[in-house]
This record gives sequence, structure tokens and C-alpha cells, in this order.
Amino acid sequence: MRLVLISDTHGHRGIGLPDGDVLVHAGDISSSGTLNQVRQFLEWFAAQPHRHKVFIAGNHDFLFEQSPDLAALLLADFPGLTYLQDSGLEIDGIRFWGSPWQPAYNDWAFNLPRNGDALRRAWDRIPAGTDVLITHGPAHGILDQVRQGPHLGCETLARRIAVASPRLHVFGHIHDAYGVAYSGVTVFANASTCDEDYRPVHRPILVDLSPERVEVLNTTPRPRLERVAALTAALDAAERAPGEIRAHQLLAVVQGLADLRQVARDELAEEYMRRGLRSDLMRMARAEAKPGRRPVPVKHLGGSDAG
Ligand SMILES: [Fe+2]
Repeated sequence: MRLVLISDTHGHRGIGLPDGDVLVHAGDISSSGTLNQVRQFLEWFAAQPHRHKVFIAGNHDFLFEQSPDLAALLLADFPGLTYLQDSGLEIDGIRFWGSPWQPAYNDWAFNLPRNGDALRRAWDRIPAGTDVLITHGPAHGILDQVRQGPHLGCETLARRIAVASPRLHVFGHIHDAYGVAYSGVTVFANASTCDEDYRPVHRPILVDLSPERVEVLNTTPRPRLERVAALTAALDAAERAPGEIRAHQLLAVVQGLADLRQVARDELAEEYMRRGLRSDLMRMARAEAKPGRRPVPVKHLGGSDAG
């Protein structure tokens, strides 16, 4: 089962979403949770091609807390969507649980006193055997810092996760801490789409979930970009010593480029003769380096960035 994880889209809808079986949004679908904003989100979310679409509310999504009846009425128009609020869902044997609460911060929605009984009761409802836990906020100490600031995540949630042992914990809320981390038991994914300035620059996190493993697909360095760099270096070397260019070296560069572009080598060789390789390589390198194409950062638990 392939999951596409997003969070904190805050009303942005022009987000490129990769294919997958389940699209998960971990809250903050809107900027201030008005009826109109929520409706616009639901229309966009429902239009996505993913077989299952699951979401929770976040601290900006006031409608779900202040007018749950109205929210339910609205949701009834979108039967293809699943809204979770201290509730679960099973898809192909994979058990999901979603909850919007977080330790109180200003006057936002779904606030509960930090370290209080109400939060503990909310987390106690997370069933043992949950595969995918979706909360809006992070657990304490895990992808919960703005830059190198204090840990802002929920202590009570961290304790519950240690006991309930979900295989995957999806959340957002702390935009700056976007990335994934591994505890050995749980894969943690802060899927915040927006950055601290509410620009939707972070990629959806792609996860393959099987009975045996949880694999995050888009964390590894970009093999395409690495190959482009290798080919550019080969071309540079050839240009520096034109007398030493050998046919087989040039052929290797053209072959590499043809593989990347998935075209026939001879076709590309012809094109190369026409207009040169370099512009093609540079264009590919630029496309790969766009912010939206950056890989998902992997962070050490405790906050320091592993790159
Ligand atoms: Fe947010």
C-alpha cells in the first residue's frame, strides 16, 4: 500500500500529488477554518485520484471544533473522504487512527492543557495495534522544533506512542521540522507541506507500507541528479582535453543521458550533434534542484539534522 502524506496545506491547492493508494492529510487544511475555506478544501481533496483520502483537523480548522454539526453536514456531501477525530479506519487490513488535539498554544482550535488529563485521555484512545497514527502535532522530542528552538511536541503523546507502538506516525504543525525520523519501532513523518512562511514548498512524503516494512521512498539522494552530475563531469573532462575525447567516452555520456530521458541512444546522439549535450544536462540539473523536488530530509531523533 502506497501512502502519500501531506499536512498543513493551509488552503493551498496547487500542490502536485504523486500517485498512491491512500492520501493522508494531517490537519491545517485551511488558514482559519471558515465554512467556505473548509468547503474549498473538501472539493479539492475529493477531486484527487487516490483510492482512499483520509484527513484530520488541525489547530487552524476551527469549523470542526466550533461547529461539528455543520462540519458533519458538509462532509456528508463528500462520501469519498474519511474525516477522523478520535476515530479509526481500516483499509486492506491496515489500521489508521486520527486525532486533532495538541498542547494548548494561544487560542487555537483543538487545544488541551499540556500534560493534562484531557490530553492523556485522548491519547489513551489510540488503540494498541494501530498501524498508522495521524495526529496534527508531533510527539515531544521528535521533529518538533522550529530551527534549533525548544521541543514543542506533546510529552503525553510521546509516552502513548512508546506503548501503542504504531508503525507510522504522521503529523505536521511544526512546519520547520518537516522530514522523517526513525525510532526502530516507529517511522515518524512530519509531512508539513508549508514552510514557516506558509509557502507550500515541501514535497509530499511517499511511504510504502507492507506487513513486513515501512519504507519512505523519497528520502534518498536523487539518483537522477547524481547521474546528471556525473555526466556533466565527464563532459567537462572531455572539453578540457578535446584531443583526448574518445568515441567510447562520448558514447557513454550520450548513453547515460538517453537512459535518464528514456529515449533511444541513437536518437539522442543525433539531437546532440544538432544542439549539444550541455544545455540538456544543465536544464535537467536545474529541474532536479527546484525546491519542490528536494528529497525529504531524514533527521536524528533529538533534533540535529542528518542531512
Ligand atoms: Fe500549520
